Amino acid sequence: MVERRYCPCVSHGGFLMLVLLFFLFFFHHAPMAAAADAPPPLPAEDAQDILINLSSVVGTNRWNSSTPVCDWTGVTCTRSGSGSSLVVTNITLSNYGISNRSIFASICHIYTLQSLDLSRNSFTDLGDLFPTSSCRMKEGLLSLNLSSNKLSHSLSDLSGFPQLEVLDLSFNLFPSENLSAYLGSFPRLRSLNLSSNKLIGDIPVSMAGSLAELVLSGNQFSGSIPLALFNYGNLSLLDLSQNDLNGAVPDEFKSLPKLQTLLLSGNNLSGKIPPSLNVTTLTRFAANKNSFSGLIPTWITKHVRMLDLSYNHLNGSIPPDLLSHPGLQSVDLTSNMLEGTIPNSLSRSLFRLRLGGNKIGGNIPNSICDGMSLAYLELDNNQLMGNIPSELAKCKKLSLLNLASNQLQGPLPDGISSLEELVVLKLQNNSLNGHIPNTFSASLSTLNLSQNSFTGQIPSRVFELQKLSTLDLHGNNISGGIPISISSSKSLIELNLGYNALTGTIPTMATTLSTSLNLSHNYLSGSIPSNLGSLIELEILDLSYNNLSGEVPSSLGSMQSLTQLVLSYNHLSGSVPIFRQDVEIDIEGNADLINGNGNNNSISTTGKKKPHNVVIIIFTIAGAVVGLCVLAVIVMMSLSKRIYRVEDEGLSTGECVSHIINGHLITMNSIHTSAIEFMKAMEAVCNHQNIFLKTRFCTYYKAVMPNGSTYSVKKLNSSDKIFQNGNQEKFAREIEVLGKLTNSNVMVPLAYILTVDSAYLIYEHAYKGTVSDLLHGEKSDVIDWPSRYSIALGVAQGLTFLHGCTQLVLLLDLSTRTIHLKSTNEPQIGDIELCKIIDPSRSTGSFSTIAGTVGYIPPEYAYTMRLTMAGNVYSFGVILLELLTGKPSVSNGTELAKWALSLSARPDQREQILDTRVSGTSIAVHSQMLSVLNIALSCVAFSPDARPKMRNVLRMLFNAK
Ligand SMILES: *[C@@H]1O[C@H](CO)[C@@H](O)[C@H](O)[C@H]1NC(C)=O
Ligand SMILES: *[C@@H]1O[C@H](CO)[C@@H](O)[C@H](O)[C@H]1NC(C)=O
Ligand SMILES: *[C@@H]1O[C@H](CO)[C@@H](O)[C@H](O)[C@H]1NC(C)=O
Ligand SMILES: *[C@@H]1O[C@H](CO)[C@@H](O)[C@H](O)[C@H]1NC(C)=O
Repeated sequence: MVERRYCPCVSHGGFLMLVLLFFLFFFHHAPMAAAADAPPPLPAEDAQDILINLSSVVGTNRWNSSTPVCDWTGVTCTRSGSGSSLVVTNITLSNYGISNRSIFASICHIYTLQSLDLSRNSFTDLGDLFPTSSCRMKEGLLSLNLSSNKLSHSLSDLSGFPQLEVLDLSFNLFPSENLSAYLGSFPRLRSLNLSSNKLIGDIPVSMAGSLAELVLSGNQFSGSIPLALFNYGNLSLLDLSQNDLNGAVPDEFKSLPKLQTLLLSGNNLSGKIPPSLNVTTLTRFAANKNSFSGLIPTWITKHVRMLDLSYNHLNGSIPPDLLSHPGLQSVDLTSNMLEGTIPNSLSRSLFRLRLGGNKIGGNIPNSICDGMSLAYLELDNNQLMGNIPSELAKCKKLSLLNLASNQLQGPLPDGISSLEELVVLKLQNNSLNGHIPNTFSASLSTLNLSQNSFTGQIPSRVFELQKLSTLDLHGNNISGGIPISISSSKSLIELNLGYNALTGTIPTMATTLSTSLNLSHNYLSGSIPSNLGSLIELEILDLSYNNLSGEVPSSLGSMQSLTQLVLSYNHLSGSVPIFRQDVEIDIEGNADLINGNGNNNSISTTGKKKPHNVVIIIFTIAGAVVGLCVLAVIVMMSLSKRIYRVEDEGLSTGECVSHIINGHLITMNSIHTSAIEFMKAMEAVCNHQNIFLKTRFCTYYKAVMPNGSTYSVKKLNSSDKIFQNGNQEKFAREIEVLGKLTNSNVMVPLAYILTVDSAYLIYEHAYKGTVSDLLHGEKSDVIDWPSRYSIALGVAQGLTFLHGCTQLVLLLDLSTRTIHLKSTNEPQIGDIELCKIIDPSRSTGSFSTIAGTVGYIPPEYAYTMRLTMAGNVYSFGVILLELLTGKPSVSNGTELAKWALSLSARPDQREQILDTRVSGTSIAVHSQMLSVLNIALSCVAFSPDARPKMRNVLRMLFNAK
């Protein structure tokens, strides 16, 4: 549902180019119109004399008098009229962290200006930015971009732009107000973007009739879609996604004959898809995550190229022609109530088809690959029957095939597993039989054939695949031995061969195994090989229900990462080596085996370990329910509203004397226990001036304790979630657990305070800014590569640690703004408690409104609605890319990850991704950066299954040294 203009491709990565092209086209053709009424030219030399005044704000390395103004960073000049004099027409000062309003005094004199881009700065108040009386620039300005600032006052302060055509105020803090009163003051407005503010009330309908693009996504607009909106006959882009809109959509689209993109995702709209939507220009329509019902209109894809109707209540069958229209690119009907069969005829251009989570029956049509373009095919969790058609092997571009949880039978036809581009193959939970094929795509990273009826042996070639990371064959009837080629597997992280009929001994295993190795419920014999002890990253080892005999090798004691060892029901003897206290050990059913550890599968430890199993199961079962930590986060709009409300920090000292319900020290360290005073902490919170950082969900205050030492106090802006149904106790327990974590790259709370309506956490104060400040802050010093690399390593270490905790810790908001620096190269991951607070289970609506920060949100969150480790890996990949490129996670409306992926397709363009200011410093740096780039790109892979686990990422980063 991240259907905003500013990240158009979060859910449709592949369309990036198209959408970009569309916008490029738009902006290219924009400026001509007003050129005629422009005032007499202000020569560039004169502009330079005015603008030089700003060099102290912008930086003398960018704007200085030794370079002509037209060559200054962010300044564009154009030859004006027939004369050949240059004038300054565009100024772009994006992402300089500027908050100093004095720059406007000078910019206002540049009346030749057509385009002003001040996005990603820190302006707070529109009011005095453009004093009407003295700002000549306003008269000719065509395009104004103030997106991603901290503007929070009234929009009414923005008026007097008679020529303005493009206004972008997205990602600010504009509050609830009656917009309609102001939007009329831009008579030539063509493009208005108010996305991601805090606007409430009705959709405004007082804009100029010329309006062609309206983006209002990510606010809290409510009510139904007003009829008056259909008076804007020039509209080509209408994005109302992620609001609180309800009711039926007016059937008036014949009044919008130029509509190209319509995004309604993530609201509560209901009723049928309106019949008048058969607009010939409409190429993209997304209405996912609403309550639309009724049938899928037969004509909907006649013009639409990208259709997303997933997560609605549509029923009936898929119209026979729906998928066949020429030019169709992507259809997503996941999670509706569709019945009937899959249409026979598919468009040649269709590259993504998702029909999972319906009640579709019948066979998979033989013609499904006639189109040849399919890259993503997901038909899982339906009632499909019959054989898998061998024609699927004709889909040469297939990279993800998910047919899991159907009633498919017969063999897996030759040629499918070896499709060259195939990365993920999921066929689990069907009734497939016959042998496992012997040839595989070299790209294959996930192969799941579990819970079928496959027979024969495990093909030894499967372990020669360089990229295979997950192999799950459990619950079949596979016999023979485990191929010895497994020792040479390079990427295998998780192997499950349980519940088969395997015989022979356990061979030397791949040392990359880390998540789990499950060989249980087979007929394996011989002794446990001592070299299993070299699997120092393995967390779960299950060898139960085999015929293993002999002693348990003492080398197993060196498996440092082990959390669970299951040896039950074998014929083992001797004694179990000594493990860490918290390792769960199960040796039942081995008459001669003695466990000297205190931790023999006792009730208390079992209770703790369960989540781990749950996690693994959840990763394999689509649509699984909530695990202790893997959260099915489906968040109510009402929840996000509450978050927004508490974000308003209106605290005066009087209001501030909050009654402390519970203040509790977690740390045992006497330095802290004697220093921390809860009342002092609360006093600090009363004073606005103590705020030193605000993240998406938290506000940090600096507090000086009576003994002079300084602490950070963090206010949780989503505190209200903690107080629902007396959740305080649960929260307190979870914070206690987090407080016991010890990792130098993770911010661990020392104490917490609960008041009547808020929650606060106390930390050591060692704050030297965030990674975002370091990379994109006002200080213009270029950070060298060794520092960036050690930040990457530190964050990877912290995140690997959190993912490896007994009670998995997932991050809701992982970005360069939530990573604090203790020093230039000592990063610490902050805000680790969020996934414990934001109770997902009772939420509905749009996930992406709360799932972290735009630019870091993995594409699949829009569909899966739950936090995952793979999702965190994606966010980490974006952080790596920021370190490599020096660019922010979103710039000019394009997500960094998407941009890097699009460039990386051509090896000769990879250079261009890197920050040349550092990659050029030495050959060694350059080659190391390229290796890290490869890691970053694998982390931001579109398919979550294709992303490496953090453990592996960390290892790869080390190897890149
Ligand atoms: C230059 O800036 C200073 C303050 O920053 C201001 O007082 C002065 O008037 C400015 N000069 C011009 C020519 O804008
Ligand atoms: C002056 O600005 C130019 C272009 O913005 C830059 O390349 C140059 O290094 C700057 N000069 C100084 C002395 O900072
Ligand atoms: C300058 O601004 C105009 C008007 O918005 C725009 O069309 C043009 O592409 C811009 N040029 C550059 C080089 O950014
Ligand atoms: C498309 O819309 C027009 C006008 O509303 C209508 O007359 C026509 O029958 C519609 N066509 C289809 C295929 O529904």
